[in-house]
Amino acid sequence: MHFDSKLPDVGTTIFTVMSRRALEEGALNIGQGFPDYPIDPELAAALTHVIGEGHNQYAPMEGVLELREQISAKLQASYGLLFDPHREITVTCGGTEALYDAIQAVVGPGDEAIIFDPAYDAYEPAVRLAGGRCVRVALAPPEFRYDWDEVRRALSERTRLIVVNSPQNPSCSVADARDLDALAALIRDRPITVLADEVYEHVLYDGRRHASVLAHAELRGRSFAVFSFGKTLHATGWRIGYCVAPPALTRELRKVHQFNTFSIVSPLQYAIARYLAGHPEVWTGLSAFFQAKRDLLAGLLRGSGFEPVPAAGTYFQLVDYGALSGETDVAFADRLIREAKIAAIPLSPFYAAPPAMTLLRLCIAKKDSTLEAAAGRLRAFAATARANR
Ligand SMILES: Cc1ncc(COP(=O)(O)O)c(C=O)c1O
Repeated sequence: MHFDSKLPDVGTTIFTVMSRRALEEGALNIGQGFPDYPIDPELAAALTHVIGEGHNQYAPMEGVLELREQISAKLQASYGLLFDPHREITVTCGGTEALYDAIQAVVGPGDEAIIFDPAYDAYEPAVRLAGGRCVRVALAPPEFRYDWDEVRRALSERTRLIVVNSPQNPSCSVADARDLDALAALIRDRPITVLADEVYEHVLYDGRRHASVLAHAELRGRSFAVFSFGKTLHATGWRIGYCVAPPALTRELRKVHQFNTFSIVSPLQYAIARYLAGHPEVWTGLSAFFQAKRDLLAGLLRGSGFEPVPAAGTYFQLVDYGALSGETDVAFADRLIREAKIAAIPLSPFYAAPPAMTLLRLCIAKKDSTLEAAAGRLRAFAATARANR
């Protein structure tokens, strides 16, 4: 039978491709974003405990109340604001489901969504499945700052959604309060909703503070904010995220959520709720934890030919290999897997029209010993590459 694909040009994501290549080549995978160290044993124990207690049936569609109350307390501690667990907080299957649901809730056929390149890869397919179209505005390396005049030019009568991601994967840049003010001013009189991907809300470096749309007086009333316990609790495989949005937007999001995943793994929600109750400020140490890892890797690579690009947040570090090769990032990343036995993520697949650049993304959410081993391999590769140039 013949049928037309709805996403004919969408292949396997660059993360899956590189992780598969890493396995084939026996390479050290510091590309894909997941920790290689264990979760807190108390979190693991909480899961066993709640399963024993009998929390093994369907959870409520909007999420276990105990968890939504903990999320509300966490939001209050982080941003000093109260969010109603009943009408403004929904538990989802990772941040990914929240992004998908929000997009389906507000984008319709013929609508446009503005996204910023290099863009996390989950946004565009969801917009297209909703019948919409992405208009991409590029953030230029090495600073990856927003150009709000460019955004103004990208707006049209059909714009319904703007997706902002801060701290931003893969550029490691962050939006500040002035960016949010500029965004608010641009959409003030337009029927545009904001989707804020804030899954790295607790990983900002060098004393920076996260500027959440939830804490912005104007944006709060027209935004979906997306978060992930995968990032905050080092448990990406648990697939627990949540969306915070005003009641009218939450109602629409839940209409999609209830027929998408319906409800999220019950014992995982109870386990996180119990864990947060016992560790109410567990996330406050995350910036320092990851900053030490960023500094370790950057320190080991500086001067090697894999030059670290200043990183303001996320658990990634970009490196510029321009001193070693003029190859495209995809070709160079493939050579790294084969010759250095290191898997890294090239940046161009995150762009619709990539600018000329020689950047790779490395994940720092790894044991120090993994980062040291990776840096050793990269330095050895660079020394040979330099000798042969
Ligand atoms: C920017 C960004 N948004 C969303 C997600 C998805 O989060 P989750 O793993 O909770 O679905 C990720 C995961 O890497 C991410 O980097």
